[in-house]
Amino acid sequence: MCGIVGYIGFRNAYPVIINGLKRLEYRGYDSAGLAIINDNYHIYKYKGKVKDLEEKTKNLNLTGTIGIGHTRWATHGEPSDINAHPHISMNKKFIIIHNGIIENYARLKKRLEDRGYNFISQTDTEVLANLIEYIYLKGRVTPEIALRLALTKVCGAYGILVVCTDEKETLFAARKGSPLVIGVGEGEYFIASDATPIVEYTNRVIFLNDDEVAIVKKNEFSLKTIMNVPVTPVIQEIDIEIGDIEKGGFDHFMLKEIFEQPRAIEDTFRGRLSIKDKSITLGGLYNVMDKLINAKRIIIVGCGTSWHAGLVGEYLLEDLAKIPTEVEYASEFRYRNPIINEDDIVIAISQSGETADTIAAIRLAKEKGATVIGICNVVGSTVARETHAGVFTHAGPEIGVASTKAFTAQITILTLMALLLGYKRGFLPKEKYEYYINEMFEIPKKIEKILNQHEKIKELAQVFNNINNSLYLGRGYLFPVALEGALKLKEISYIHAEGYPAAEMKHGPIALIDESMPVVVLASNKDITYEKIISNIQEVKARKGMVISIITEGDEKISKISDYCIEIPEAPDILTALLSVVPLQLLSYYIAVNRGYNVDQPRNLAKSVTVE
Ligand code: G6P
Repeated sequence: MCGIVGYIGFRNAYPVIINGLKRLEYRGYDSAGLAIINDNYHIYKYKGKVKDLEEKTKNLNLTGTIGIGHTRWATHGEPSDINAHPHISMNKKFIIIHNGIIENYARLKKRLEDRGYNFISQTDTEVLANLIEYIYLKGRVTPEIALRLALTKVCGAYGILVVCTDEKETLFAARKGSPLVIGVGEGEYFIASDATPIVEYTNRVIFLNDDEVAIVKKNEFSLKTIMNVPVTPVIQEIDIEIGDIEKGGFDHFMLKEIFEQPRAIEDTFRGRLSIKDKSITLGGLYNVMDKLINAKRIIIVGCGTSWHAGLVGEYLLEDLAKIPTEVEYASEFRYRNPIINEDDIVIAISQSGETADTIAAIRLAKEKGATVIGICNVVGSTVARETHAGVFTHAGPEIGVASTKAFTAQITILTLMALLLGYKRGFLPKEKYEYYINEMFEIPKKIEKILNQHEKIKELAQVFNNINNSLYLGRGYLFPVALEGALKLKEISYIHAEGYPAAEMKHGPIALIDESMPVVVLASNKDITYEKIISNIQEVKARKGMVISIITEGDEKISKISDYCIEIPEAPDILTALLSVVPLQLLSYYIAVNRGYNVDQPRNLAKSVTVE
């Protein structure tokens, strides 16, 4: 949610900032702006995408060795040139970019207005700029002290970069709630919301913690808390290649990421699933393994697609490991005063590791004494750092706003966990455990087979050209996949889609069915409800609905009664979610492309939701 990038060093900051903004654009894309600082400062900001900002500034010959840039997902104030960042304080002393929400901004604004401050934008960020300036001018303190004092008055979340026009050789960065990473080069520093704008220059990074302020000069760097306590920076090496964050010949990141799934799943189980020893090892859970084995209850929290992965996790953990499991939206969990016991295990699932509601749920669970495990894709992220233990998905950076490879990687981890716990708890006999290990190992190849059908799926997507509503039905392990398929379609093609447990159709959605209503049915011949799903298809057909079935290879029973079919390779029911979701991702992708939409940057959405 909003991407921020900054540079200080010896290069011209302009291209670093523009390129950085392009990499961060998935975090928000309703407006963009930058400031380049040399003897003077130059601020440009516009409603629209980063390429509009680039178009309008590329011939201005902007040069300076300090720069900051912002790509916005509006919270306070509609997308407009004025509300775009950077913001500058009334007396032009502080330039600021901000990711997050200042919750008490209205009260602070009123106080500043009472003291003669005027505001030109509707943003909370301008309030912060003026608050810092007010303290600076009134208190006659240094810019750093003014910044730190101002931050003590702020409630809410922020990742900010600040430049004082009286001290143009320093860049200040501060964080509370919204992520900031500092890339450490030779005589230069790169600061950004995540590592993607940084990795082409350096892989040495410092992850800022909440309530820390970095004071960054060309050849000098120091870190302290907002209460002025010095902090020793910890430099880590990150393992992201530049190719991981580029489209690599695909038209969109989403398509690239869908096609990366065999590799992403393999990377996720590499070193954890041994086909030779027929074993599963999850090193990140070593410290909590006893607690997991003896768990009375597991609560899974997440948002969006990660929540859907959690639903698959519930089926897996109850089915294989026989541990009672609940799945909660992190946003509901955090505010409903849930009953959490000290022997409960809470699993937080998050691709980005920065989703505000998921982080709040983690903190609440910890406060109540639960053991909290993270399943997360981003090393150094808040989820990774705040959980007691965890397992990384090694899906690689996911840039497309609609999550794809992160989903299958999350399910991979949940499957490994459920298998291991099922075995260790004595519910899964050795032969069955080994059989599933073998089958899991085959999944990447089976996904390749599905991906090879992309032309057929592209053709099928035409069916949706004039469609406004659709229904996705599944049962058992395929019910969460129905939800995920419907979400994918909504997110990028703006077609109304609902996911339902197939048997629930008759309790409402069936009223919607007519010849203009495609119904996507997920059916696995391994599911115990296979015959029932055939009846559900008949019910749709009887009402002239159009049926698109995702079936097991060679399933003639269903293909005969469906209008269209996509076949997936045979697999045990516990693994069918991993396969069935892939055609649905491709289907949504091609439908959205046919409609001419920007699939990587769907309207109103953002990849990393760092506000409530
Ligand atoms: C946003 C993204 C979704 C994602 C959800 C949760 O809504 O657009 O793709 O599933 O956030 O994000 P997380 O990073 O916590 O998995």
